[in-house]
Amino acid sequence: MNISGATELLVLLGDPVSHSLSPLMQNGWIADHNLDAVYVALPLKGESPVAAIRALKAFGLKGANVTVPYKEAAAAAADVREAPVANVLRWERDGTLSAFNTDGPGFIDALTEAAPEWRARVKRVLMVGAGGAAQAIAATLAPHVDTIHFVNRTSERADAAALAIPNGRVLRWDDLERGFGAADLIVQATSLGMSGNPDIAWPVGVCRANAIVADIVYRPLETALLSAARARGLATLDGLGLLIHQGARAFQYWFGVDPDPAKARSRLTAALA
Ligand code: ATR
Repeated sequence: MNISGATELLVLLGDPVSHSLSPLMQNGWIADHNLDAVYVALPLKGESPVAAIRALKAFGLKGANVTVPYKEAAAAAADVREAPVANVLRWERDGTLSAFNTDGPGFIDALTEAAPEWRARVKRVLMVGAGGAAQAIAATLAPHVDTIHFVNRTSERADAAALAIPNGRVLRWDDLERGFGAADLIVQATSLGMSGNPDIAWPVGVCRANAIVADIVYRPLETALLSAARARGLATLDGLGLLIHQGARAFQYWFGVDPDPAKARSRLTAALA
């Protein structure tokens, strides 16, 4: 990488960001395409994230990814936004700031990669979790499926997430097993099973034979949920799929070219090993 006075700057805004794999992934693609750009993680601290993001306008940045806890602030700071929650920012030539959300579409890309015929077979979705990731994925999946049932430890958040889409429903946490048995696609969108976090005994035994099981957790890459689903011969989708495809769509927004997801997967898998 040759950094010069003309090198364009892309940043990851969030807190914390030091464990992020996005710099490795995005700089790999930047090198693949011989672009004069560099992607670095910026831990954003302070009381006024919207003001901080707006102040970045003055520095001539090209773009940003935004992660927890600033996705709402990023959308609010933008002049043009496609949703109230943004994970991608792009500073335009006219000085305005545009905000996009590639989490939902990135999940669909990853799902299509793992199970190309999913549209024909996924009618009922079980969404485990009701946080930012669950809501972004649900909003994009909703028009393609009959129902999305949310099951969440805190039931009020499941209620709110279900109300935000036309075909949202709610299951009680105690009914997790019933949800597993009824779903064509199960999306695990909580931090359960992540290294250093608690996990539960997932009722994979009751899954339908053609169910697809997705986990957004990628540390470890093979969670207990995915390993149980694979042991049963179910189609699975790991957390790197979402990470890579949301990033690929961001790269396309910034540079106008589609980067290679397979190259990112091999670099990220090596980094996680
Ligand atoms: P993100 O934006 O990454 O989705 P989030 O908004 O904090 O993060 O959401 C985290 C999700 O993981 C929530 O659904 C949360 O459940 P609550 O709404 O009840 O907090 C879920 N979660 C985190 N830890 C959990 C645990 N130990 N058991 C069950 N659910 C958990």
